[in-house]
Amino acid sequence: MAEILGRPHPRVEGRAKVTGAARYASDAREPAGIAHAALVTSPIARGRITGFDLAAAEAVPGLLGVFTHRDVAGAVAHVPHLMAGGYVNSSHRPLHSDAIVYAGQIVALVVARTPEAATAAAAAVRVDYEQDSAAGGFDAPGAETVRLADLKPGHADIRRGDPDAALAASPVRIEARCETPVQHHNPIELFTTRATWDGDRLTVHEPTRYVGAVQHGLAAQLGLAPSDVRVVAGLLGGHFGSKFALSQHTALVALAARRLGRPVSLVPSRRQCFTIANYRPESRHTVRLAAGADGRLSALVHEAEVVTSRFDPFAMEGCDVTASLYACPAIRTQERAVRVDRNTPGPMRAPPEVPYLFALETAMDELAGELGMDPIALRRRNDTATDPVTDKPFTSRPLMACFDAGAAAFGWARRAPRPGVTRDGPWRVGLGCAASVRPVKIAAATMRVRLCADGSAEVATAGHEIGNGITTLLAMGAAERLGVAVERVRVRLGDSALPPSGISGGSSTTTSLMNALALGCEQVRGRLARAAAAPGGPLAGRDPDALALADGVLAAPDGAALPLQAAVGLLDPASVETLAEFVPRGGKPEALDALRAGHIGLTLPDDALAWAFGAQFAEVRVHAETGEIRVPRLTGAFAAGRVLNPLTARSQLVGGMIWGLGSALLEETVVDGAAYRNPDLAEYLVPTAADVGAVEALLVPDPDSQANPLGVKGLGELGIIGVNAAIANAVHHATGRRIRSLPIRIEDVA
Ligand code: MOS
Repeated sequence: MAEILGRPHPRVEGRAKVTGAARYASDAREPAGIAHAALVTSPIARGRITGFDLAAAEAVPGLLGVFTHRDVAGAVAHVPHLMAGGYVNSSHRPLHSDAIVYAGQIVALVVARTPEAATAAAAAVRVDYEQDSAAGGFDAPGAETVRLADLKPGHADIRRGDPDAALAASPVRIEARCETPVQHHNPIELFTTRATWDGDRLTVHEPTRYVGAVQHGLAAQLGLAPSDVRVVAGLLGGHFGSKFALSQHTALVALAARRLGRPVSLVPSRRQCFTIANYRPESRHTVRLAAGADGRLSALVHEAEVVTSRFDPFAMEGCDVTASLYACPAIRTQERAVRVDRNTPGPMRAPPEVPYLFALETAMDELAGELGMDPIALRRRNDTATDPVTDKPFTSRPLMACFDAGAAAFGWARRAPRPGVTRDGPWRVGLGCAASVRPVKIAAATMRVRLCADGSAEVATAGHEIGNGITTLLAMGAAERLGVAVERVRVRLGDSALPPSGISGGSSTTTSLMNALALGCEQVRGRLARAAAAPGGPLAGRDPDALALADGVLAAPDGAALPLQAAVGLLDPASVETLAEFVPRGGKPEALDALRAGHIGLTLPDDALAWAFGAQFAEVRVHAETGEIRVPRLTGAFAAGRVLNPLTARSQLVGGMIWGLGSALLEETVVDGAAYRNPDLAEYLVPTAADVGAVEALLVPDPDSQANPLGVKGLGELGIIGVNAAIANAVHHATGRRIRSLPIRIEDVA
């Protein structure tokens, strides 16, 4: 078998992407007679619609219809959240009643012959409201704090030993209160929807990272058979965690298309995308750590609160990770959700790890300072091969290997032990580090694999190319295992009409799809091998298990080889095809049924902790007079099992690290009242090229045959985790100031 996986290979869709030939969902060819929709959203966060004045909108030439709750109330059935057994990213139904439950809620859908007319008519819609007071965030009157265990069945706070007694008795202890802000995904491709009916059959073009959830969710909402709904995503122009389930506007576009008898396309504005989709909610944390003089942890307490909506059980849980990272005999966690009058938050790259590890890893840095220990030495002292909460083993534990590789490449040894002493002209210089860890999630997946007599192959599954390079990996994997050229493998993805696979989320895509591909290719090889080795066959007498597909032949160890055309021809003149059904270790056979029903099926092994690891290093320069903060260098070292394509893996990791820089220094959605005040890319800051210095991502070997058959762990989210803490720790090292609230701003350090 020629080795293709594991070597760098450029993206197979790269040329199409840079030449503009690539087709995203939003680029689907416009059918004749298509109409264009625009949204009207509520400026108030809580209250009631008392009336509409549509006269001005109706006077706009080209207007085809204005839909409000008066027209469509009751037309969309309630469907639960994806994380609660359903399909949606928010179970709120707009245009269902006169009630307003958050700012930015859709109150009307306007359809016209052109996008310009739709936008003009939407702007002309007058809505009258009766406004009630709204709770916009933590500590707002009316905000309701609930135990996470009461919100999410299955969640349990962790208690091991008596950490409060250990804290009281310990000579060294710290308490860190940390806060992280609201952040919004801002993919370049907006949350577009196109709905086309053919009789009772609905086709939706929408950038989504779970076509199955959109298909089954729409069917449930609109009372259709799932087989009558097709969802086509094509390539995704970014999502970063959004686009993970069925959105509220999709069914409205479908309803409008049905009532108007023509296809309808919606391209919401960037501003509207801040409220019609999801966001990373704000969080606040209290971490208490105690240690002996040798640095060994004796107590860990992590109390966390996250914001969520009034109406969904979604909340980010993260203490399962922070409690299990370091050896510690006494642990207590407490997680609570604060329900406010905003839309439901959602996953954003490494949803819990980004905020929760910010809290833990700044606390660890502070503890190292208290102890007078090097921060890496403190982590080495508390390294563990087993979970301190459950005593289960880690399938591998290369955390310190990451710190060692990263420290060497970064030049950690040159770091001054004391903070606030390193200067370079007007710049205070600081070096900081933090851990990045993430549990490895994996899901059931199905994959159709076809090997053709002409030396080409096709692999097809509903899963999605979200920019992570899965198309390239599938082509590489099929080429390697079927013995054909990478260029001759056709990869079909992003369409609910293809064999189902799950959400492209939780860094599970590569792990799940590549294991399914391996299974499918093995099924194809096995069928050819058994046919060839059968009595009277061309390779009779050989052990079928020893026959390999390589370089266009089916080859035996003794040198006998059957050309592919002849091998395939034993079964069919043109091609041999199989459908692989992959169920991960610990997964139940029902996992396939759940997959076919569009449910989320990410699983973790139950007898071990399979994690991916990393160590993040940052050099920060803080201008002594102006407080300007620059990050000239980021170095990350990552161990994520077997790396199948170092080129796309590095690209994922570097992208994550740059985003981590944004998370530390720039990104914040400002909540005022209960509304977002900076919903555009002029005022919501993300890193530009000028903000980014040298970014280096190292890959640390992590052979792990326990995690899953291929030993692949997924690294889509690993790169962002811990960067915010590494930068905050570097700011402390540069200035002596401990900043516990993100983003870190000039005024914090000037
Ligand atoms: Mo992630 S934002 O859970 O794909």
